[in-house]
Amino acid sequence: MCGIVGILGKSSVSTNLVDALRRLEYRGYDSAGIATIEGPGIERRRAEGKLRNLEKRLIAEPLGGRTGIGHTRWATHGRPTERNAHPHMTAKVSVVHNGIIENFRELRADLEAKGHKFETDTDTEAVVHLITEELDQGAKPVAAVRSALQQLRGAFALGIIFAGEDDLMIAARKGSPLAIGHGSGEMYLGSDAIALAPFTDAITYLEEGDWAVLRRSGAEIFNIDGVPVERPLVKAVASALLIDKGNYRHFMAKEIHEQPEVISHTLANYLDMTQARVRFPDLGIDLSKLTRVTISACGTAYYAGLVAKYWIERYARVPVEIDVASEMRYREAPLPENGLAVFVSQSGETADTLATLRYAKANGQRIASVVNVRTSTIARESHTALPTLAGPEIGVASTKAFTCQLSVLACLAIAIGRARGTISAEQETALVNALMEVPRHVASILRSDEAFVAVAHELSKADDVLYLGRGSSFPIALEGALKLKEISYIHAEGYAAGELKHGPIALIDENVPVVVVAPEDELFEKTVSNLQEVAARGGQVILISDASPEKTGCKLAAHIQMPKVDSFVAPMLYAVPTQLIAYQTAVLMGTDVDQPRNLAKSVTVE
Ligand code: M6R
Repeated sequence: MCGIVGILGKSSVSTNLVDALRRLEYRGYDSAGIATIEGPGIERRRAEGKLRNLEKRLIAEPLGGRTGIGHTRWATHGRPTERNAHPHMTAKVSVVHNGIIENFRELRADLEAKGHKFETDTDTEAVVHLITEELDQGAKPVAAVRSALQQLRGAFALGIIFAGEDDLMIAARKGSPLAIGHGSGEMYLGSDAIALAPFTDAITYLEEGDWAVLRRSGAEIFNIDGVPVERPLVKAVASALLIDKGNYRHFMAKEIHEQPEVISHTLANYLDMTQARVRFPDLGIDLSKLTRVTISACGTAYYAGLVAKYWIERYARVPVEIDVASEMRYREAPLPENGLAVFVSQSGETADTLATLRYAKANGQRIASVVNVRTSTIARESHTALPTLAGPEIGVASTKAFTCQLSVLACLAIAIGRARGTISAEQETALVNALMEVPRHVASILRSDEAFVAVAHELSKADDVLYLGRGSSFPIALEGALKLKEISYIHAEGYAAGELKHGPIALIDENVPVVVVAPEDELFEKTVSNLQEVAARGGQVILISDASPEKTGCKLAAHIQMPKVDSFVAPMLYAVPTQLIAYQTAVLMGTDVDQPRNLAKSVTVE
C-alpha cells in the first residue's frame, strides 16, 4: 500500500525522489519522507500529510546526497504522524518498507532486550534494528540484510541504505511488488515502473522472495535461498506523459471522460469488429466442458465480477461462484474439476485477490485474470492474463478500470456461451454489436454534466443515501454506493431492489435520497413497484433509466435519461451516471476527490 523509491544517482537525488514519490501517492498519502547518504552518515526529512508538506520541509532544510530512499505512507501500524513516517533509521542504516512485518512484536522485544531503543509504533522499525544488530555484530551490509531477511515473517518490499555507503542500496521483495530501474550510471528502485517513468523505462521486476544488491554499475539479484538469479530486463510501457490531469480538475474526472476511448481499445482487443465476433484468447481449458466459474476480487473489481456472474449464468448457463477475496481466501471452498477461476484487479497487486488466486491454482483451477497492469503479480501468476486497456488509473476511486473490466468480462461470457452452444452465431453478432455501440453511448452520457450537478446538490444535503437495482443492475447499485461513500464520505448502501421491504425500507423518509438504477428491461416493472414503495414513504427518488419518468407513476426528485440499449450492455452504461453523481457530490462537498481520506489505490496488505 505504501510507495517506496530509491535512487543511486550522479548528483543530488532529493528532487527526483520527491518526483517519483508523487507518482506513488496513489499508494498512500498519510505522510512522506526521504533519507540520503550525507558523508559518513544518513540524513532524513519527513512530514505528516501530503507530499507537498515534505517538499516544504526540503526547501527549508535541503538534502544533497547522491544516494537516497523515499516513502509515501498508508498507515498500518502506528498513527500517521511524522514520528511514524518512513524512512526509519539508526545511525547505521535507513529503511523504507511497504507491507506488514507480522512478527515485529517478537523481534522488537528481543531487540529491546539487547539494548535497542525504539522510537516509533511501526512494525518497520524492527527491521531497522534487526539489521543494525547484525552490523553491530560485525556483519557487512549485504550479509546483515541476508540474515535479517531470514528472520522476517509477513509481506514486504524493502529499500535499504547504509551510513557511509554511497554506492550501495539493497532491495527485497516478499509479497509486495518492487521494480528495479536501470539508468546510465544510475540505478533506481520503485514500487512500480510508473514511479520510475521519468528516469528510465528499462525495468527488472523482482520475483517473490528475491532480494537485490544495487550499485551504480548494476544490480545483483538473489532468490529466496540466496542463489544468484537472472531476471529479465523489460521495457516498461508506462509513459511519463500519461500521468497528467490534462485540462481536468481531478484525475477522477479525466478518467471518467476517457471511458469511451479506453472501453473501445479494450473491446478491440477481444472482438473481431468486422465479423462482429468475439476473438478471445485460449484459456487453456475446454470451455464447452466447464463445470463452474469461480470469480473473486475486492471492492469495485468485485462488483465487476458480480455483473459477470449475471452474464455468464444467463448467457453461458454455467454456475458461477463469487466471493470477495478476503473471504474466499480463508473459506477453503471446494473447487471442482474443469473449473475456471477468474480474478479481477485493476492494480494486479491486491493482496487478498492474489492469495485467493494462489489457493485456486493450488486446487487445480485454470486461472484467468482481468488486470489493468500487465506486469503485475496477479497477471504474472495467472495461466492467462486478460488485460484491460484502461491506461494508468490514478484516482483512488476506480472508474474507467471498472467499465474496462466489464468489457473484458462481457466478451468472456459470450466466448463461454459460444463454446457451450448456449449462444447462437446470430445472438453473438447481436451482443457484439451492442458492445461495439457502448463507447458512443458512454460519450453521449458524458455530455450531460449539468444533470449530475443537480443530483449532487440533493445528495450533498443527505446523511444517508440508498442505491437500488435488480438483476445485473444490482451490482451497479452496490458500485454506485461505494463510489459515493468513498469520495464524498456520505453514508451510502446498495441493495437489491427486492430486498427493500426486508429491512432497508425502515430507513426511508424525506431526508433519504434513493438512487434507483433501472433500465427498462424485463425486471423494470418489478423495480418500479419498489420505487413506488419508496415514494409512498416520502423518499426522494433519483431514477437512472431509459424509460420515461411517467412510466414510474410517481413524482421523481430527478431523472437521468439514459440511451436505449440492449439490456446485456446496460451495466457498462449505467455505471457512468453513478460515477458522475459521486464525483459531482464530492466536488460540492470539497473533499479530496483523488486521494480520499484513509484510502489507497493499491491494497497490498490484507
Ligand atoms: O486494484 P484492485 O482492482 O484489485 O483494487 C480493488 C479495490 O481495492 C478497489 O476496487 C477499490 O474498491 C476502489 N477504491 C474502488 O473505487
